Amino acid sequence: MKGTLLQLVGVSVHYGGVKALDEASIEIGEGQIVALIGPNGAGKSTVIKSVFGLAPIQSGHILWHEKEIEPVSYKMVQQGVAYVPQGRQIFSNLTVQDNLEIGGVVIKDKKIMRSRIADVLDMFPDLKNKLSAKGRELSGGQQQMLALARGLITDPKVLMLDEPSLGLAPKIAKEVFEKIIEIKERRNTAILVVEHNIRPLLEVADRVFVLARGKVVIDEPNPKSLLEGARLERVFLGERIL
Ligand SMILES: Nc1ncnc2c1ncn2[C@@H]1O[C@H](COP(=O)(O)OP(=O)(O)OP(=O)(O)O)[C@@H](O)[C@H]1O
Ligand SMILES: [Mg+2]
Repeated sequence: MKGTLLQLVGVSVHYGGVKALDEASIEIGEGQIVALIGPNGAGKSTVIKSVFGLAPIQSGHILWHEKEIEPVSYKMVQQGVAYVPQGRQIFSNLTVQDNLEIGGVVIKDKKIMRSRIADVLDMFPDLKNKLSAKGRELSGGQQQMLALARGLITDPKVLMLDEPSLGLAPKIAKEVFEKIIEIKERRNTAILVVEHNIRPLLEVADRVFVLARGKVVIDEPNPKSLLEGARLERVFLGERIL
């Protein structure tokens, strides 16, 4: 059996009066693609932010290898968790090379940095030819690939992606999903993917959590099964199924 890497156990996050997460429990196993879906404002981004100390946790715990860990960015990065935020957040005035190096700012050894960049570029041949191009000169798809590549520089065990296909044409979105599968297969990286583009994600995911109003309302080990029947529709139409 494959082990569990990262868990949120009964995590609640409140922003003033807004309950962004309400005792949410989510887990990511070794080498798994885990889908996290739900309507707008359901709390999906907050799940990722809570792991990195970017959301105020009221109660609950974050576990790494089943032991409690303090959810602050540098500790998570040290353990092997990486985060590619919504909207890619690459530096548009910096070159592709610089953007990659910034992803590895915790790597002090230049030799290791060079070999990590070479490893990552192996998986992103399009970026290899654009190392001295500025971020803003890349297409939306290339910027997303750069964001993925940057996320991999620290060689994470868990990669968290917030809406990687957002704003991309369907053909390019498909390439992003193919890249996600390739990352899992070549590096055995576990990947949590938040998406509105549900169908292609459920086709490839190993497990899916559905959030609504901060609660996990579905935890399904057979994501494709949600593509049939009306369970998802009911959640997205706002029916209270818990
Ligand atoms: N910094 C903040 N301050 C106040 N409220 C916030 C903050 N961040 C998020 N919220 C609220 O918390 C709830 C969950 O937000 P979150 O961004 O996690 O949702 P989401 O599922 O990622 O939504 P989307 O699909 O629109 O990206 C929403 O009601 C949102 O308005
Ligand atoms: Mg979001």
